[in-house]
Amino acid sequence: MPSVVIVGTQWGDEGKGKVVDLFTEKADAVVRFQGGNNAGHTLVINGIKTVLHLIPSGIFHKRVVCVIGNGVVIDPAVCVEEIELIRSKGLLNKSGKLLISENAHLILPYHKKIDQLREKQKGEGKIGTTGRGIGPAYEDKAARMGIRMTEFVNPEIFKKRLAEVLPERNLYIEKILGGTPFTFDEICKIYLPLAEQLRPFVANASSFVQQAVLKKKNILFEGAQGTSLDLDHGTYPFVTSSNTVAGEAACGSGVGPTAIDEVIGITKAYTTRVGSGPFPTELDGAVGQHLQKKGGEFGATTGRPRRCGWIDLVLLRHAVRVNGMTGYVLTKLDILSGLPELQVCVAYDYKGKRLSEFPTNVEILKECRPVFKKMKGWKEDLQGIRKLK
Ligand code: IMO
Ligand code: MG
Repeated sequence: MPSVVIVGTQWGDEGKGKVVDLFTEKADAVVRFQGGNNAGHTLVINGIKTVLHLIPSGIFHKRVVCVIGNGVVIDPAVCVEEIELIRSKGLLNKSGKLLISENAHLILPYHKKIDQLREKQKGEGKIGTTGRGIGPAYEDKAARMGIRMTEFVNPEIFKKRLAEVLPERNLYIEKILGGTPFTFDEICKIYLPLAEQLRPFVANASSFVQQAVLKKKNILFEGAQGTSLDLDHGTYPFVTSSNTVAGEAACGSGVGPTAIDEVIGITKAYTTRVGSGPFPTELDGAVGQHLQKKGGEFGATTGRPRRCGWIDLVLLRHAVRVNGMTGYVLTKLDILSGLPELQVCVAYDYKGKRLSEFPTNVEILKECRPVFKKMKGWKEDLQGIRKLK
């Protein structure tokens, strides 16, 4: 391998999980480096469907060590729930199989509440977040108001930090968003026991990953979301609150960019998006419905139907650049089977001007009309086809 970053090239849900599972067969370690439980990864093990949002699915492989890096925001309740789920399958009884970075920030109940109340207040103008508190947790991290794992697992320090930050967040919930504030005691009551459960896993993840790099181990850096949801390179403000691009694999796990050998961009044969924001190749007629139904395009995290459209090469060109992609995997090509004609977006028309670069300014992007190249479709089932011809 030895160290490969898997990223989504579109708006998430490209099928990263499936490719991660394939690569995990060869991996020694799987590292998540950004996002939180806004991601969803559906697995079928022995015929039973399991959905993980936080812990890498590599946890189900015997020899793999899973790492949750410093760039991830962790909801302790979700993390413990997933640990229990994995334990119920007879795994994770040994320490050292899961490492949680001591520098990863927490998602606390007030983050979730702020996320949800804010979206409600925005009404039509909402971002369409997953409501998991991701944005507010990253806001607190940048505002130096966050609480990290290393503080969480030390009850005295956690209480001290919580006492420092809670009043301001409560004021915001009450006065700006019209919600009910949290009491210090109710948070402590639920979260202190969770900290006990997580303590054995909290470690210097950066050091672990660096050692694995030096030993030339096969490391898989598992990205969540997609390039167009990146905080800097996506369709701001209709984005998530972390960097989803490959560079974050280094930053969000505590190693330098020299640790990375390959960047594989996962690309769906058409485009989908959950949540609001411009989407130039979106389809709302029968073809869109075909893609949604046949492709099973419903969110793994929120169950929301995904908006569907044709593949967009302008967006993908941008993804190749900002991720420094060395390869790509095309997923769900079989979903296009049966469509008599396919359209591929090769450029945008912006007020009569042809654009070949993806505009990240949403005011421009929403005025862009796709320039399509038509292609003949096929009827045959693609399953089992191994040769391009
Ligand atoms: P995976 O890893 C698709 C979207 C949300 C919303 C925006 C901001 O399964 O590909 P957030 O809750 O992150 O503040 O919401 O980002 N979003 C995703 N869309 N797949 C995901 O993850 C997503 N995670 C967040 O729908 O538009
Ligand atoms: Mg998803």
